[in-house]
Amino acid sequence: MYLTKEEERIYDGEFGWANQVCMKILVRLGELFGADRLIPISSAHVSGVSYKTLGDAPSEFLKALAESNAKAKVKATTNPHSIDRKHISARISEEVVQKQLAITKTFERMEFRNSLTCTPYYLEKPKLHAHMAWSESSAVVYANSVLNAWTNREGGPSALAAAITGKTPNYGIHKAEERKPKVLVTVNTKLKSETDFGALGIFLGEILEDKIPAIKGLESASKDDLKQLGAALASTGMVNMFHFYNEKISKEGLEKISIDKNDLAKVKQKLTMTSTKKPDLVFIGCPHCSLNEVKRVANLISDKKIRDDLEFWVCTSRHIKEKAEKYANKIEKCGGKIITDTCAVVTWTEKLGIRTMMTNSAKTAHYAPTLDNADVTLAPLEECIKTALKE
Ligand code: F3S
Repeated sequence: MYLTKEEERIYDGEFGWANQVCMKILVRLGELFGADRLIPISSAHVSGVSYKTLGDAPSEFLKALAESNAKAKVKATTNPHSIDRKHISARISEEVVQKQLAITKTFERMEFRNSLTCTPYYLEKPKLHAHMAWSESSAVVYANSVLNAWTNREGGPSALAAAITGKTPNYGIHKAEERKPKVLVTVNTKLKSETDFGALGIFLGEILEDKIPAIKGLESASKDDLKQLGAALASTGMVNMFHFYNEKISKEGLEKISIDKNDLAKVKQKLTMTSTKKPDLVFIGCPHCSLNEVKRVANLISDKKIRDDLEFWVCTSRHIKEKAEKYANKIEKCGGKIITDTCAVVTWTEKLGIRTMMTNSAKTAHYAPTLDNADVTLAPLEECIKTALKE
């Protein structure tokens, strides 16, 4: 892989240990994937911020980087960590809270913006065709497919290294020719709710391997639906983007797949492990809610109250919470919790006594059984809210 003179000097350690180790991570990755060179990026987004998923050893590595004076060279944001200061911290051990805060502060020390959200694109929309290094898979698919900004799916370490060097290896979907669709997917059923879009993502992720699809049948999709589709697609597969099928896309040479109502029904059935009428938690906000979603939740609750025998969480970023203040206040007044900086997957639900969960997110329904040890019911927003409300 070609390196500029300056990159070589960084690689050789002239700019300190932190820069050297980051450069080495990127060069190794580039060599593995056949990159020809490094390219500048406009932003990086790192995952691996939650102490629950990170653990102790990587936290020490982060600390060592910060102590060696590593600083983000480009706009760099962070994924959710494992606590919400208002609703969760006081319910788990002080030791865990302190360990989490130490990680989060380490990022701050390295001049990352502690956005603590998986939807960094609501904070600042990336420019068209901007090269980036993002490592939250749902955000990667959304950025590539909906916003037409270009990023591979980075791992936590490579996104971190990219943030500190301001570069990423030029391979994968940083190259226009690698972004072309390989499969034409025809959806032969009307997608009626966000859970249908999520089920479609789970189904496609399982069968596509890394082949980029052009999907026919997304005409009625809202941006929030597409967010559900992308998050689910990335949770079961390696595809990092999809296209909306249009007449300009040649069908020639594309593998063809058709999907009908039954395929989606089977996925939804598989993602629903329990049919409890009273889950411990009703969770909305995976990926973190948009302003529109918070508004929808508030409107659906109307003037009713949340049941006393369950928790109702709406997870979003601080940024959206602020913008949606009126709706957020209304949800909290009715007994719901607006949770920021975390979500039901990366926080300590088990320690909070949550064993059963209802959610409108196929991604959460896919992960919560293993990461939260919880039984899940997947249901559209209206049904989730109906379950959460007092009669
Ligand atoms: Fe975001 Fe948590 Fe879902 S980090 S994408 S809300 S699993």
